[in-house]
Amino acid sequence: MTHRVFSGIQPSGTMTIGNYLGAMKNFVKLQETADCLFCIVDLHAITVPQDPQALRQNTLNLAALYLAAGIDPERATLFVQSHVPAHAELGWMLQCVAYYGELGRMTQFKDKSAKKEVVTAGLFTYPALMAADILLYQTTLVPVGEDQKQHLELTRDVAERFNNKYGETFTIPEPYIPEVGGRIMSLEDPGKKMSKSDESAGAYISMLDDPAVIRKKIARAVTDSEREVRYDPAAKPAISNLMTIYALCADLSLEAVEQRYAGQGYGPFKKDLAEVVVETLAPIQSRYQELTRSGEVEVLLRKGAERAAEKCANTLQAVKERFGFLA
Ligand code: TYM
Repeated sequence: MTHRVFSGIQPSGTMTIGNYLGAMKNFVKLQETADCLFCIVDLHAITVPQDPQALRQNTLNLAALYLAAGIDPERATLFVQSHVPAHAELGWMLQCVAYYGELGRMTQFKDKSAKKEVVTAGLFTYPALMAADILLYQTTLVPVGEDQKQHLELTRDVAERFNNKYGETFTIPEPYIPEVGGRIMSLEDPGKKMSKSDESAGAYISMLDDPAVIRKKIARAVTDSEREVRYDPAAKPAISNLMTIYALCADLSLEAVEQRYAGQGYGPFKKDLAEVVVETLAPIQSRYQELTRSGEVEVLLRKGAERAAEKCANTLQAVKERFGFLA
């Protein structure tokens, strides 16, 4: 069976190497064998305040980054969420299927709302829109990082609830969370997820960081006691995180990384890690610079939106009929 793959990324500025290794790198792999849709989720971005000019720019920049990372717009459908109105439509309908209680249990909502003075209703119902994104396309597989697992479970629950009440309509999607790299941790605190919204830029590597910045951040990254390069996330969370980044960038197993640095200590390992990360990002960065200058991104996004709209029309129609909306 050919998988139908859907995933999305928010256009909220910097993309970290966590986003790349946890999600985008797998998108590029999956497009070889599956029918893929990749979305820039601007409707999700406005659940928190956005500067309009910055949102427009971030949307284009993220599209360029997807392409620079290797998404082939001939193979995969790359588009902007707000260009396909079906997302907002089904998003509303699924808000009327999801329960208040289950949305309130989402840990991401609890985290994101905890520090805020103003919390929009959209931030609360965010997972219903995410469910709509996925379910609109009869998606079978959703490549995401570990932090989206709970949203995926909610998506499955909502789909099953709808199917049970109204008859088989939605495919129940499976998450695709990489065993290695599903949760890249902060360089400053290995107990915390690497996040683009971290107030300290030293906590993350941006996909667009200069080589000098990458070297500095890795040199300063925290390590654990002892000096052995050994993969043991419980006892050595900091070095295990750095080893994960190394293994994924160099396409090596964790064992191979461990063997390579046996008896050498952290110094040589960190030095090489910086080079491996620089080498991984350099070609993406140069393609990104070309693409942002080319002006072709917007054209590609329009085509992508047309294709996406065609692919989801039948499902949206079926849902409307099942709810009992007048044709
Ligand atoms: P977002 O924009 O926060 O992140 C994009 C993707 O990057 C993954 N990720 C990570 N993976 C590993 N380690 C990390 N430190 C790390 N940080 C981020 C995320 O898990 C995600 O896969 N709600 C989603 C966007 C979305 C979506 C969807 C995803 C909207 N609709 C439908 C899949 C399907 C989000 O905010 O991702």
